[in-house]
Amino acid sequence: MQNFGRVMMALAVDVSRFEGVPMAPPDPILGVSEAFKADNNDLKLNLGVGAYRTEELQPYVLNVVKKAEKLMLEKGENKEYLPIEGLAAFNKATAELLLGADNPVIKQGLVATLQSLSGTGSLRLAAAFIQRYFPEAKVLISSPTWGNHKNIFNDARVPWSEYRYYDPKTVGLDFEGMIADIEGFASGSLDEDAFSVRLFVKRGIEVFVAQSYSKNLGLYSERIGAINVVCSAPEVADRVKSQLKRLARPMYSNPPIHGARIVANVVGDPTMFGEWKQEMEEMAGRIKNVRQKLYDSLSAKDDSGKDWSFILRQIGMFSYTGLNKAQSDNMTDKWHVYMTKDGRISLAGLSLAKCDYLADAIIDSFHNVN
Ligand SMILES: Cc1ncc(COP(=O)(O)O)c(C=O)c1O
Repeated sequence: MQNFGRVMMALAVDVSRFEGVPMAPPDPILGVSEAFKADNNDLKLNLGVGAYRTEELQPYVLNVVKKAEKLMLEKGENKEYLPIEGLAAFNKATAELLLGADNPVIKQGLVATLQSLSGTGSLRLAAAFIQRYFPEAKVLISSPTWGNHKNIFNDARVPWSEYRYYDPKTVGLDFEGMIADIEGFASGSLDEDAFSVRLFVKRGIEVFVAQSYSKNLGLYSERIGAINVVCSAPEVADRVKSQLKRLARPMYSNPPIHGARIVANVVGDPTMFGEWKQEMEEMAGRIKNVRQKLYDSLSAKDDSGKDWSFILRQIGMFSYTGLNKAQSDNMTDKWHVYMTKDGRISLAGLSLAKCDYLADAIIDSFHNVN
């Protein structure tokens, strides 16, 4: 009765209790997608978010995911809660994928793996752990990085600073700057994610690794990933895992099951695993073709003699164009190309057919806007 009375009183006052809550700025990446949706121009292109699209610029559900979901439906699996640490078969497959199934650290029980909410949620959990157990620690973040990395550590109250990574002069890697900023920390390989992680582990370095199946398996909205902590002794791994569970429980209680089952089916089955690798190669191949075509279009159309080969020297889903904020604004305002203001474009959202158009937009922005 008393509580009810209080609710009525709250409704009766004409000034909102939330009056002092300011409007938050739109997210720099997801805000780009919202602006893209609101644009009615047929030429529009969304190169902001890192989500894979087909050559027809449509979202793509991997065949191997559809196959796993069909199997799951046939088995008639239930929707009971998972334990805090997630699906055991998922955690096993995920740690093995990251470190290699025969890695001694797995056999020796040195790895604490907890299913969590894609890369973001897994990293947020690691940040909460760092804040609690390493209050003196400072996190190093590459410059530039995905903007949310800073939010994650800010919200967890973990201090961070940046290390040099990108050189705007060459639109490439600032190798000397990077080594100078992270000296004593880097082990050398920049090539493959798993290779560098395994090298750290092989050298006996204790690591946190946040894993995500958003991009490689196209499971963006399933929010599926994991945090792995490789420790120096099995008892330590047990204690670390117990504390990660303790942190996860009040945050979100336990993780969702659907994506975990898909991953466990695909990664845990040799045939499906092979099919997945093939589909990943196809996706990566399409992105590589688009990268090459964008370079060809830029070189063919731009008669200023500018060297665009930095596009080919970069790797992965994204590319830095070297465009500044004003030039990136021109890309959006004049050409309907939606991208982040640091000049980054997602090649995964580009098709071969749109490369010429994008090259025109980049050349115009580069030469005609300061
Ligand atoms: C560059 C980059 N890193 C990380 C993420 C995190 O993705 P997730 O939390 O889905 O693993 C994203 C998502 O858009 C991204 O664009």
